[in-house]
Amino acid sequence: MAKNLLSLWGCTREELMVYIDRAVALKQEAAAGVQHRQLAGKIIALVFEKPSTRTRVSFEAAMYGLGGQVIFMAEKDCQLARSEPLRDMARVMSRYVHGLVVRTFGQAVVEELARFSTIPVINALTDLHHPCQVLSDIMTVIEKKGKLDNLKVAWIGDGNNMANSWIQAAGRLGFALTLACPSGYAPDSAILAAAREQAARPIVLTEDPQAAVRDADVINTDVWASMGQENEQAARLQVFRSYQVNAALLRLAKPEAIVLHCLPAHRGEEISEEVLEGFQCVAFDQAENKMHIHKAILEKHLA
Ligand code: CP
Ligand code: NVA
Repeated sequence: MAKNLLSLWGCTREELMVYIDRAVALKQEAAAGVQHRQLAGKIIALVFEKPSTRTRVSFEAAMYGLGGQVIFMAEKDCQLARSEPLRDMARVMSRYVHGLVVRTFGQAVVEELARFSTIPVINALTDLHHPCQVLSDIMTVIEKKGKLDNLKVAWIGDGNNMANSWIQAAGRLGFALTLACPSGYAPDSAILAAAREQAARPIVLTEDPQAAVRDADVINTDVWASMGQENEQAARLQVFRSYQVNAALLRLAKPEAIVLHCLPAHRGEEISEEVLEGFQCVAFDQAENKMHIHKAILEKHLA
């Protein structure tokens, strides 16, 4: 296992499955009342430059659940806000804590922190990737479908950080992925090309949401304007109008298809109320699984 978890591309297929299998076991143990202490004496710092409900609380709950402790730092409360160089922060934090969990804008920020720290750096969302989220999503798919092989996964909407991490997961894990994104909102082209080169099954990019969901087993969407794109919100509402995951779109998928959303959801925009609250939607299981996957990640990188 590499020191850091900056994107899913840094992991082999086997390593991705190690996180997921361990999270499944930890979830079962938690349900059986097993108490864990394997990270007793360890401390992580969460450094967040963007808001978070799920990722922050599930990482904190995961760390406490393994016997460890957490220091939370919002950007405005630390010297990052006054432009302290990242390499200085990385070296200082390495002397206090055993791991850094970072949510920020540029992927270069987590890369720089990782380069200069002697402790693991975990990417808790950048503009380019959301690897820990997609691990919990894949855990949820396996939980619901029993397997990944032979599944068709559809991504509807923005070619954003979540889409990029799904592309890398498809490249490593070998499920078929079709992304439907409007022109000008495609995922990162270098990430797509690299994943396609190694993918066992097709990774298709289209502008047609109907074609993407046809016969899909898993339908996935996310907000149309990500954190940091608030000033594009109104323009994006127009561009993405025909990319809503709603009952009509869902009817084109397999009847037993599941719908994923990493949350927070904007009802009436990327997903209808009916679908988000419907029996096919597993968004709240995904949210729960974030805590179990974060336990597995922390254990693998810190124990
Ligand atoms: N899904 C997710 O990352 O949610 P938060 O922004 O609440 O952490
Ligand atoms: N794409 C979204 C994901 C939020 C969890 C964002 O970056 O805001």
